[in-house]
Amino acid sequence: MQIGPYRLPTPLLLAPMAGGGSELPFRLFVLEMGAGLASTELVSCEGLVRRQVRTLRFLRHDPARERPFCVQLFGGDPQRMALAARVAQEQGAKIIDVNMGCPVPKVTRNGSGSALMAEPERAAAIVTAIREATDLPVTVKIRSGWDARSLNAVPFALQMERAGACAIAVHPRTRAQAYSGRSDWSVIKAVKEAVRVPVIGNGDVHGKADAERMIGETGCDGVMIGRAALGNPWIFREVLGGPAPTCAERRAGVLRHFEEHLAFVGEPVNGVRSFRQPLLCYARGLRGAAHFRVQATRLDSPDEVRRAIDRFFSEAEPDRSAPEEEIETDGAFD
Ligand SMILES: Cc1cc2nc3c(=O)[nH]c(=O)nc-3n(C[C@H](O)[C@H](O)[C@H](O)COP(=O)(O)O)c2cc1C
Repeated sequence: MQIGPYRLPTPLLLAPMAGGGSELPFRLFVLEMGAGLASTELVSCEGLVRRQVRTLRFLRHDPARERPFCVQLFGGDPQRMALAARVAQEQGAKIIDVNMGCPVPKVTRNGSGSALMAEPERAAAIVTAIREATDLPVTVKIRSGWDARSLNAVPFALQMERAGACAIAVHPRTRAQAYSGRSDWSVIKAVKEAVRVPVIGNGDVHGKADAERMIGETGCDGVMIGRAALGNPWIFREVLGGPAPTCAERRAGVLRHFEEHLAFVGEPVNGVRSFRQPLLCYARGLRGAAHFRVQATRLDSPDEVRRAIDRFFSEAEPDRSAPEEEIETDGAFD
């Protein structure tokens, strides 16, 4: 799949996920497992323009292994977004993705995220302004529409294409749906049939069969995987026809992720605390996960985490009888 001048090595993308799912160590992990692109989570346009240290941290990346490096921005003002994109470019961004899907009131209140779907003119002006300010390829990530009465993904996508977007990711739920119900892949198909730029399908892909079905049913050019990749970066390899991880591989992968996360955070107390969620995700679907989960919330030091990973993941096999567990979204993101 092509995004501007970049040919992705595989048509699989990690969905941007705030709260750790798109943090640098995990992005590198999924790229190694066969994802062709892994963007940052949504990054505040205002934070970037003001060069807030906290915001700039989201732009830390590995230029040798992230080629190209894609930054997702959220904001509602075309000129401010253009300025933010310049800062991102200066920090190494090679693709700018504009978040047009976030349903969180904190974001939509300011005319950002999915609020842009209700204002296609402003959304288009953002794409154009970023292109003019940076020359970088711009992609957009959209939903089906604001709510069930305004399902405008197709005309909206066409307008983004005219404004210069060079790929469009579609998560076919409305803002009002947030994460409830099933995503409606027929919307991906309709967008794909309407635009010429590559279309990336997203929503409820849990494995190889889903990815193949999504491509078959919609004709999409790329498949973006979010929640199912949390705790299972190997999903990309599996979708590409490779094996599921062995027990030893899983243990080594979780340990390495933890060490890289610790180094990334740069401070053990926060590093341990912020690894709890990924750790629970890694345990999902494995035998003994419920017991491990209780233990995991009590781990306080890096050595305790290392020992717990070693103990649990050295033996934990998939529990075929376990029901599918939902990933906690806090109703907060997109
Ligand atoms: C915890 C979490 C955080 C998310 N953060 C973002 C984000 O920063 N930007 C974005 O465009 N979408 C975000 N999303 C939405 C995902 O990118 C994706 O569109 C959605 O989860 C549907 O795909 P899935 O069914 O494969 O998870 C987030 C989703 C979750 C679960």
